[in-house]
Amino acid sequence: MAEEKKIPYKIYLEEKEMPTAWYNLRADMKNKPAPLLNPGTRKPMKQEELEQVFCRELAAQELDDETAYIPIPEEIRNFYRMYRPSPLVRAYCLEEKLQTPAKIYYKFEGNNTSGSHKLNSAIAQAYYAKKQGLKGVTTETGAGQWGTALSMACAYLELDCRVYMVKVSYEQKPFRREVMRTYGATVTPSPSGETEAGRAILKKHPGTTGSLGCAISEAVEAAASREGYRYVLGSVLNQVLLHQSVIGLETKTAMDKYGIVPDVIIGCAGGGSNLGGLISPFMGEKIRGEKDYRIIGVEPASCPSLTRGRFAYDFCDTGMVTPLAKMYTLGNNFIPSPNHAGGLRYHGMSPVISQLYHDGLMEAVSVEQSAVFEAAELFARVEGILPAPESSHAIRVAMDEALRCKETGEEKTILFGLTGTGYFDMVAYEKYNDGRMTDEIPGQEELERGFATIPRL
Ligand SMILES: Cc1ncc(COP(=O)(O)O)c(C=O)c1O
Repeated sequence: MAEEKKIPYKIYLEEKEMPTAWYNLRADMKNKPAPLLNPGTRKPMKQEELEQVFCRELAAQELDDETAYIPIPEEIRNFYRMYRPSPLVRAYCLEEKLQTPAKIYYKFEGNNTSGSHKLNSAIAQAYYAKKQGLKGVTTETGAGQWGTALSMACAYLELDCRVYMVKVSYEQKPFRREVMRTYGATVTPSPSGETEAGRAILKKHPGTTGSLGCAISEAVEAAASREGYRYVLGSVLNQVLLHQSVIGLETKTAMDKYGIVPDVIIGCAGGGSNLGGLISPFMGEKIRGEKDYRIIGVEPASCPSLTRGRFAYDFCDTGMVTPLAKMYTLGNNFIPSPNHAGGLRYHGMSPVISQLYHDGLMEAVSVEQSAVFEAAELFARVEGILPAPESSHAIRVAMDEALRCKETGEEKTILFGLTGTGYFDMVAYEKYNDGRMTDEIPGQEELERGFATIPRL
């Protein structure tokens, strides 16, 4: 490893090379994602209706399928400068360990206190809430990364922040909860007895460990019942993918500087925001017919919305209070087993990602938890970064691709998104280290029970 590499281990952009506008992939999509529907009228949501749930500017971004570049306000760019540009890393050590001719790169988004990419959208959403003169925001959090990111953004802008945290994570990750409280957020385990939605879910599923779908219902209700509050969401929505395009834009700039062209681009998929953000400029080129890339979304076998779900209009939450989105879904009442990649335990998928997948522009694979942790452990030992379980889904598939190259001798360039760090996931790592980790794959019967909850339009 002594020889000088032409491509550095880490490609750091300069601050002045950071994007000044988000890229809106929808502007280039031939088949646009289907619009959100009003849960009452079942008609496409208009700006005025969306504004009752979301901040005004964010509602406008949600509906904008035409503007390709949306300027990033200077205040947000200044906040980004606290932790961006994020490095694009050449995984030389992993390549050597795997003895693969493949060239592996990852975009590392874990270099901030929230420990993940979620801060990219959190600051944008908090900024627009503040600009509108709101008092505060409510949200859900699964693994805790989104809640932490939003707490940080709200603390910075002096907004109140109320987080409904999926109960299993609340219990497994007490330190995540404390980080949020340190940044001034109120954190409630979900389902809780505090909201009607929470009480209804507890009645129907007593003893449930919760899900993102449940926590969303509670957070939406909490915002609607408080003057000067709006609900914000950390994934799934078009606006969130838009904000996350900074990941892909920076990656593309860094790669272009060194003449690197990825053959395969891989991202984990919970609600689809990091994946959508990472792939957006590359997918834009693919749709415009300028380049071709293989693009792969990776999900847990325990919550396989893309690979085994239905493409249909469904509620984004379990309590059926949110707008309906057309997406790959396991049904709004599907509650995945409490596997540890909390951020990937969501029944649906971003409408943008769903449409791209439906149109055959990208692939999806599902992977089992123990294989994911095996990849995470190897990655930590050779690359030094302790990855989040969610991110490790992408590592697993990147390693599988690299090992395939070893067999075929192909020198493919593989790019994946390393969305975050796993310091707060030690209960999961402990299970893996003790050999107590199990793989939970839902049977067809269980999936059918979930599908039965998809509304018939
Ligand atoms: C580290 C990390 N990666 C990935 C995800 C998945 O979310 P998304 O699909 O929106 O990127 C999460 C969600 O909590 C996360 O915390």
